[in-house]
Amino acid sequence: MQTKSDKMSNLPRHISIIMDGNGRWASDRGLPRSFGHREGMNRVVDIVEHASKIGVEYLSLYAFSTENWKRPAEEVNALMELLVIYIRNQLNRLHKNGVIINIMGDIDALPNTPKREIIKAVEKTENNKGMTLNLGINYGGRNEIINACKKLYMEIEDNDRSIESIEESDLEKYLYTSSQPDPDLLIRPGAEKRISNFMIYQLAYTEFYFTDILWPDFKAGNLDEAIEEYMRRKRRFGGI
Ligand code: IPE
Ligand code: IPE
Ligand code: MG
Repeated sequence: MQTKSDKMSNLPRHISIIMDGNGRWASDRGLPRSFGHREGMNRVVDIVEHASKIGVEYLSLYAFSTENWKRPAEEVNALMELLVIYIRNQLNRLHKNGVIINIMGDIDALPNTPKREIIKAVEKTENNKGMTLNLGINYGGRNEIINACKKLYMEIEDNDRSIESIEESDLEKYLYTSSQPDPDLLIRPGAEKRISNFMIYQLAYTEFYFTDILWPDFKAGNLDEAIEEYMRRKRRFGGI
């Protein structure tokens, strides 16, 4: 794989991943679904490390959607516990590697312990200079847009601005990804071909890469393959 030092590469600056297939990975082995989530967390560690090493500037990971609350409480609790374990085990290493942790989603709705760990991680890493890791936790793309609209509406009211003057950038500054480039590449392991409410505004011109590999089996080499395919594609953005 090409690295940071390869100035000629058109490495994607921003990669988004819908980390899917943990439950099926566990069921295939006759294990409870939470075992799949635990193995999936190990892949988060590997992929974050690899993406940062090869020079990806922004990595957005979908960890828990606004719709995932529909799952049995036992599974939701297991996911929240894994989130806490991930941050507790990885925060120092992420910080040492210069990673900036940015949360996409409404963490106020989370139980206290994960909420506290997340706030600590964001505060500790906010002045870092390395890769930005956007973690989608209680994230929904529609929810993000609605919230941005509400904030924009307040700004318009407070400043007596005309509706006609509103541009894309006015809304974008209220998204969780404000000041970031849109994702260049979206990867969805786990065999489904949909975006499940992930970054629906930001993905307007993103290249999609779907694979049947389940997330707990998704290794650094699979990320490299997705990137290599991305680099062979022609992006036109509506031009010719
Ligand atoms: C992705 O794996 C993890 C989360 C959605 C939190 P799933 O739990 O959706 O696994 P499958 O799709 O049921 O196999
Ligand atoms: C998307 O996976 C959410 C995350 C990976 C966090 P889901 O498993 O929830 O998506 P659907 O239900 O198959 O669309
Ligand atoms: Mg799934």
